[in-house]
Amino acid sequence: MPIPERLNPSFGPAHPPVVDFVEEARQRLIVALDVPDAASALALVGQLEKHCLWFKVGLELFIAAGPAVIEPLVARGHSVFLDLKLHDIPNTVAGAVRSATGMGVKMLTLHAAGGPAMLAAAHSALDGVTESPELLAVTVLTSMDQAQVNATGLDRSPAEQVELLARMGIDSGIRGFVCSPQEVAGVRALTGPEGVLVVPGIRPAGFASGDQKRIATPAEALREGASYLVVGRPITQAPDPAEAAEAILKEMAEALES
Ligand code: C5P
Repeated sequence: MPIPERLNPSFGPAHPPVVDFVEEARQRLIVALDVPDAASALALVGQLEKHCLWFKVGLELFIAAGPAVIEPLVARGHSVFLDLKLHDIPNTVAGAVRSATGMGVKMLTLHAAGGPAMLAAAHSALDGVTESPELLAVTVLTSMDQAQVNATGLDRSPAEQVELLARMGIDSGIRGFVCSPQEVAGVRALTGPEGVLVVPGIRPAGFASGDQKRIATPAEALREGASYLVVGRPITQAPDPAEAAEAILKEMAEALES
């Protein structure tokens, strides 16, 4: 699966045009700020902001620090991915999406398993909104293996469930998906180059998988068709996060170049 030539030009306009492969890698790497408070998040951003353009605010940080934690990140020129994985009735999710539009975030997640009506309501909630975030439907969590999927009552494999959810999302107007590196090629085949495919479960060779089950290296994930990689612990828990980020960027740049 070839790496999409360029990121969609309508998306992420704040960043300068790509000038080399390391720069392109920088535009495709999202660091997960999975820390318990705003002070820790800002300290981490301070260590990484010369190296990374994107930061992901997830449930741990958002619940502890609230929407106020987004403001300094946006003010410092960073691109923010708000990963709240919304999953509720369509009316409630549409309202949550509208509430998120004023924050200046560029990506927002919701669970594809919420169903077509929920996805369509979320999509419609952005009608007429200028600079709306890219809605990303989370397919099957990268922490779920076959046994975890079966335990939720599904007889399918994770790959089959990802494909079903991606098809459903596309039919509901969604073009952005979160999926594991192991299914990204299949989702790319469904979306074509317009798909915004965000891939967590990234582990550089030799790094502990932790709770993640469906993993790959940064280079593998890009070669399979990922638009963006989400990396948390391999960077945030490294003795030198900036050095760890640069090593991942170098591996990404080599994959983009080859
Ligand atoms: O530390 P690690 O690299 O495993 O972090 C991955 C990040 O991606 C976490 O913030 C997690 O919430 C997020 N994520 C994921 N799997 C998904 C969606 C998001 O791991 N399907």
